[in-house]
Formats: sequence, structure tokens, C-alpha cells
Amino acid sequence: MCGIIGYVGPRPAAQLLLDGLKRMEYRGYDSAGIAVVNGTGVTIEKAAGKLSQLEELVQGRLPKGTLGIGHTRWATHGAPTSTNAHPHTDLLGRIALIHNGIIENAGAIRTLLEKRGHTFRSETDTEVLAHLVGSLYQGDLEEAVAAALREVDGAYGIAVVSADEPDVLVAARKGSPLIVGVGDGEWFVASDASALLEHTRSVIYLDDGEMVVLNRQGYRVRDLQVRRITKAVNQIEWDLETIERGGYEHFMLKEIFEQPESLANTLRGHLLDEEGTARVTGINLSDDELAGFDRVVITACGTSWHSGLIGEYMLEELARMPVEVEYASEFRYRNPVVDAATLVIGISQSGETADTLAALREAKQRGARTLGLVNVVGSTIAREVQGGTYLHAGPEVGVASTKAFTSQVAALALITLRLARRRSMSILQGRQFIQALRALPDQIQRILDKADEVRQLATLFEGKRNALYLGRGVNFPVALEGALKLKEISYIHAEGYPAAEMKHGPIALIDESMPVVVIAPRDAVHAKIVSNIEEVRARGGRVIAITSDGDGEIARLAEATFTIPETLDLLTPILSVIPLQLFSYYVAVARGCNVDQPRNLAKSVTVE
Ligand code: AGP
Repeated sequence: MCGIIGYVGPRPAAQLLLDGLKRMEYRGYDSAGIAVVNGTGVTIEKAAGKLSQLEELVQGRLPKGTLGIGHTRWATHGAPTSTNAHPHTDLLGRIALIHNGIIENAGAIRTLLEKRGHTFRSETDTEVLAHLVGSLYQGDLEEAVAAALREVDGAYGIAVVSADEPDVLVAARKGSPLIVGVGDGEWFVASDASALLEHTRSVIYLDDGEMVVLNRQGYRVRDLQVRRITKAVNQIEWDLETIERGGYEHFMLKEIFEQPESLANTLRGHLLDEEGTARVTGINLSDDELAGFDRVVITACGTSWHSGLIGEYMLEELARMPVEVEYASEFRYRNPVVDAATLVIGISQSGETADTLAALREAKQRGARTLGLVNVVGSTIAREVQGGTYLHAGPEVGVASTKAFTSQVAALALITLRLARRRSMSILQGRQFIQALRALPDQIQRILDKADEVRQLATLFEGKRNALYLGRGVNFPVALEGALKLKEISYIHAEGYPAAEMKHGPIALIDESMPVVVIAPRDAVHAKIVSNIEEVRARGGRVIAITSDGDGEIARLAEATFTIPETLDLLTPILSVIPLQLFSYYVAVARGCNVDQPRNLAKSVTVE
């Protein structure tokens, strides 16, 4: 997620901004920049890549001035280049602005401003916002910012300075965190406390719809109209390390709990409620072209391969599109039958996995059309495919993939919806699908609110060395994913299996020392999974079941249950995986494992 820092006070701003940005490097970014009001104008310095590139750029020639803003960018609109890096300025170069979030109506505003003669250097929604503020500026920066924000849709955390008001810094938030640091005769804004700790522990947390105006005498908080707002000054109790994890003990837990927001960000701007379909412009294919492929091959590794399996169920059931899901490491060395009539979708959180990249290159070389579902903007896979969509899940730091998985499934649901509505799905079915998608973030939150129940369940794994995960239909891949989560962070051997397949061998393993986790929501195969649970129990097996709210039948059969809200069968994996993520986390913590950096694993496997 982007990092924001702003300063006004008696000290030179430039180095202070760079140090603040350094404190926020953990958030993940791909370019950085600063703007300092220098008495006659605004000096802007920015660079793609890491902060060290920016520091090298300004070495020996730090911009002079005691008012400024700084930004680290996690690219959402436009590749991570210095042109797209923040700060951005208005048409006249007198106003500089930095932004965290997504302006959903940036396209319409850009068109309007272009008609008034504005020209843009970057591909970003942020530059559009800077131009909008400039177009509304009539000598009062505070009012120009308020007027501009009343016109935008979407999420933002912004900070703005002007060459013509060398004592004023304006900041505002809606959907992206922003805090005010109250120093001794100096004031700050930042996207998180880690950037402020070395200067002050006295902070004000802005709420959505609020603006703050800082000057050399103090600060004033208001709303976008004019109403003044009184805010409490809080004391930061956390140490720096805890702040970087947002107060969570591990990045993995933070990322599990980010899923209501990350899933909403994946869906944001794509759902067309009226038409009952999805807009996925990044795939660079018309509806006819998308529907014209003979089949789809999905290729990926690990957790991303599991989300691909769920995509197979979705695309085949709703869009009647034949799908094969291939391990990238196998696909690249087989002699796969792919050609121009094949759509090959590569799924990758990092966008750098060597096997997935090689598989996509092989597919492209054979004439197939390639798409990427990728989280890291500007990554190699994202740059080499012929289209795709970004997950917008934010940086995933924990080696065990969690929020990227649910965002991958959501992205596959968007592509499925668009194709299904082009083929056989009715507008009413489409609207129902969208309604179910929109409900997911809140449903995930309801599951997370019961995390302590999962922590209790994890005690059932004390002393256990093996586990079996069972699921049917679209929850079979969830069984695979749950087993992978457990084994990769707790080092307990776990196997995911289709529940009905268990009687063809693995049932020989069942005894009371082999916990069996069964994903058993109230779906089309519910009666079948009940039989599988009974098969396990008949052999003395101990069953932990993930079931739907109110499912008394399975509660009577299983030793322990955890319930999830109901949704459409095909969307159940986005909910049923959450308790399994938490489960593996709590088991691993109880075993004293290094949850964020498990042994032998890397976050991105960039080698064969
Ligand atoms: C998932 O928890 C693992 N860390 C691993 O399987 C991962 O999913 C796999 O390496 C693929 O990574 P990618 O999504 O970045 O391509």
C-alpha cells in the first residue's frame, strides 16, 4: 500500500520526508517521490524503484524548504515508472499532490479537463486529481481541495501543497488511513504511525470525509463542507515493529484480517449491477473474442494453482467453457496442445514465479492468447501477458498466501461472470451473482469476528503429525489449499483429497491420531459429504467440520464444527478458506513456528 508523509515546521523538510518514507518501506512500493515548497515554487524529485534510487537522485542537492510531502507508490493505475510516481502537479506546476487509493471516476474527470486544454504526463488517476484541484484554485488551497474532493468517487488519502501558500499543507481521507502528528511547533501527516514515531507519539486519527489544514501555528480539522471538527489527540503506545504489522503479531494474520478490504478492492469498479455483468477491461478482449475461444488453460503454482481449480468449476458450470488447470512446472515441459483458439490464464500473486512465467511464454510461443491475474503491478508476468487484471489486494508479505488467494478467486469470478453473461447466463442470474459477490466482504468479516473459535479448534491438533483435508466439488480445491497452508507453516504433514476419493486408499490412514478436516457447507453435494463424514467416524476418525450456519446435522456428526455464512455454491471457497487460513496460523503459532518466513520457503519462487 502507498506511503504518505507530510511536514510543516521549522526544520528542513526533504531529509525528514525521506526518513519517513524509509520507515514505511515495509508496506511494499515500486516508486517514490517528494515535493518541497522552496519559496518561489515547488521542487519535485521522484524515481522508480526503491527509495535508494530517489536518495541517489537528490544526493548533495536536497530540495530546500520547510514544507513538503513525500510518497511511496504501490502501483494501481499505470506501471511503476518515475513519470507515474507521485507527487503529481496541476497544469501550472504550482500545486503538488500525493494520493493513496483509487479515484473511480478519474477517466470522466480527465476527459472533461482535456476538453479545457489540460494535458497529462502520466497514466495515473492521481495526476487527474491534482489537475482538478488546480482548475478549482482561486487563491485558497483548502477550498480548492474541498471542492475537488466533492467531485470525486472512490477511495483516497491525500496531501497537497502549493507554491503560492508556503505555510499551508492540506490533507484529507476517505477509505485510506491518514493521521496527523502533533509535534513541538511542527506538524505532520502520514499514512501510518511508523513514519512519525521518531518525532512524536501524539497523533490524531482522521476519519472518512475529514480534512486537516496544517500551518506553522497549528492544525484545523474540518469536513468537505466547512464544518469544523474537534478531534482527540491520542498517544501511540506501539513500538515500531508492531506498527508495521498493524498491531498484529504476524504479517500473515494481518493479511488474513485484511481480506474484507482486499476482496472489496479486487471487485471495486468491476461490477455492473444494472447489466448483471462485470467490466474487466484489462483483459483486452471484446465479449465476442472472449466467447470465441475453444477452451481455457489455467496455469499456476501452489496456492495460485488451487484458485485456478476453482476457476475451472466456475467457468465450466456458468460459462460452459472447457477448462484445464495445469501446474506451470509441468505445462512448460509437456508438449501441450495449445493454439490461437486457446486462452491461457496465468495466476500469480508475485508475478515473478519462474515456472508460471515460462509456461506463459511457451503458450504465447505456440500462438495462444495469454492473460495474467497478478497482484504485483508491473511485475514480469504482468508485463509479458497480452492482457489481464490486477488483484489490488495490496502487498502480501507473509510467505503463506492468504488474501491473494481469495482475490484470485474473486478475479476469476469476474471473468466467469462476463463470459457467462455473453453466453448463457440471464441478466437476473447475473444480478444475483453480483449481489452474492458484494456480500462477501461483510461475510468474511463475520467469520473473522469468530477467530477465537478457530484458535480453540487448533488445540485439537496438539501433538498431531498428520492430517487429512476433505472437500467435494468446488470445495475440493479448498481442501488442497487448507492442507497446503497447514503443512507450509506448521510442518505437519497434511493431504487434501476429494472426499469421495478417500475410500480408494487414504481411508486406510484413518485413526484417532489423524484429524480429518472436512469442508461441508450446505451446497449441492451436502448429503454426499455427510456420508463421507460417517465413513470417517466409523473408523474412529476425529472430524473437524467447516459447515454452514445452522447446520445441525453435521454438528451432531463432527467432534468440532466451525460455521460460515451461506453464499452461492461457487463462491463458497472464498468463505470456507478463511477458517482454514486461521486454523493453520494458530496451529503454527502454538508449535512455535516462524509463521511469516517458514523454513525452506520463499515468497516468490523465481527459480526453477
Ligand atoms: C502459497 O502459500 C505458497 N507460498 C506458494 O505455493 C505460492 O502460492 C506459489 O509459490 C505461487 O506463487 P505466486 O502466486 O506468486 O506465483
